[in-house]
Amino acid sequence: MENISILGLQWGDEGKGKIVDYFAKDYRTIVRFQGGPNAGHTVYVNNKKYTFHQLPSGLLWGNKRAIIGSGVVINLELLKKEIEQLSDINFELLIDYRANIILPYHILEDEYEEKLDGIGSTKKGISQAYRDKYARVGVRVFDILDEKRLRRALERSYKFNSVLVYGYKEKMIDFDEVYEYLLNFRKFLKEHSADVQYEIMNQKEGIIFEGAQGTLLDINFGTYPFVTSSHTIVSSIGINLGIPMSMVNKNIGVFKAYTTRVGKGPFPTELNDEIGDYLRNVGNEYGSTTGRPRRCGWLDLVLLKYAVFLNDIHELVLTKLDVLFGLKEINVCVAYEYNGRILDFPILYNLESVKPVYKKFKGFDNFKGASEFISFIESYLNRKIKYVSYGLNRDEITIF
Ligand code: GDP
Ligand code: IMO
Ligand code: MG
Repeated sequence: MENISILGLQWGDEGKGKIVDYFAKDYRTIVRFQGGPNAGHTVYVNNKKYTFHQLPSGLLWGNKRAIIGSGVVINLELLKKEIEQLSDINFELLIDYRANIILPYHILEDEYEEKLDGIGSTKKGISQAYRDKYARVGVRVFDILDEKRLRRALERSYKFNSVLVYGYKEKMIDFDEVYEYLLNFRKFLKEHSADVQYEIMNQKEGIIFEGAQGTLLDINFGTYPFVTSSHTIVSSIGINLGIPMSMVNKNIGVFKAYTTRVGKGPFPTELNDEIGDYLRNVGNEYGSTTGRPRRCGWLDLVLLKYAVFLNDIHELVLTKLDVLFGLKEINVCVAYEYNGRILDFPILYNLESVKPVYKKFKGFDNFKGASEFISFIESYLNRKIKYVSYGLNRDEITIF
């Protein structure tokens, strides 16, 4: 069976959760390889809503194998709560020894930095945990398994994180408090931690690699600094799980029929008008993690083409087509105007300076009516839209 990746092609919230759940019917193992509790992946089953933050989506079928790889930053307290909420679902959980932990002061730092000059983060301590990881002062899952090792790792982290004391003039949380807090998870981690790289290398069955966030939030290739702090693109799978990319056989890209974004940053097709409000209301565009209203705008094919390239996408999934039903006219961005020139490539380092050029479509309220819209996207992207999702429930999806 082939291994597949399911990736977000916009600024996150494309409907990855629903699509992972759909594919997970035929797979036993689903892997998260980056991000952390900043993610919010929604799945509806029998009109009941489930939101996955750190666990992979797709567990609701039962008897699945959930894997959290080394590139994920973990909030252990939230992870345990998430597991408790799924108490009636049976699944196996493996967490990589190398994964870094989000510490209580990372969350305080995130809150403080957001006040100082924020980008609109989810305030989950994501960038602060990755900062410590790359500064080589993070605490990892493996450290928690041994008291002495934990003390050593936490002491180093404390030395470096005293920025809270010196920089922000706030009191650092007491060392012993954090040490005891982490030790409380030792039993849980003894049961669930593993060498995930080894497990995946030796896995004989198919795997779903579930992306979090979206391509345009990638730390290198997104709208920096208005991005998240991990790599969200397909190559992240290789780097963060320690496997060759040849183990990923097919890349499935998920995108909405329009565009949304949470937090600050450039957004060329944003609609600050009644159509934007319409998309937010009808699409229920409120953050799955923070509840914040999402910014809404037209579909941007310039960005989408870039995302298809960057992720080597083989098949596309279009979601939320139903949200467009009933609009009189639909716009799709096909190029940018920049300094008197027309561009078909996004200059992501200067995206605030472009003006979208639109192609107009007559509104539609069913699949048949949407066929011109769908074929146009396919020919622009030179890829097939194989699945169209038109509602939040599991069965509201059509294969072409
Ligand atoms: P993710 O982060 O990519 O998993 O996406 P989210 O779960 O944060 O946001 C997508 C939202 O759209 C969720 O509330 C889904 O239940 C919902 N959704 C997914 N697909 C569709 C669809 O085709 N139509 C509608 N109306 N809602 C959808
Ligand atoms: P899913 O997986 C949408 C955004 C935040 C902010 C920026 C940085 O559900 O698609 P962070 O807390 O990561 O430091 O915030 O990234 N962001 C998301 N936006 N969907 C997400 O995840 C997101 N995760 C982070 O709003 O702009
Ligand atoms: Mg989401």
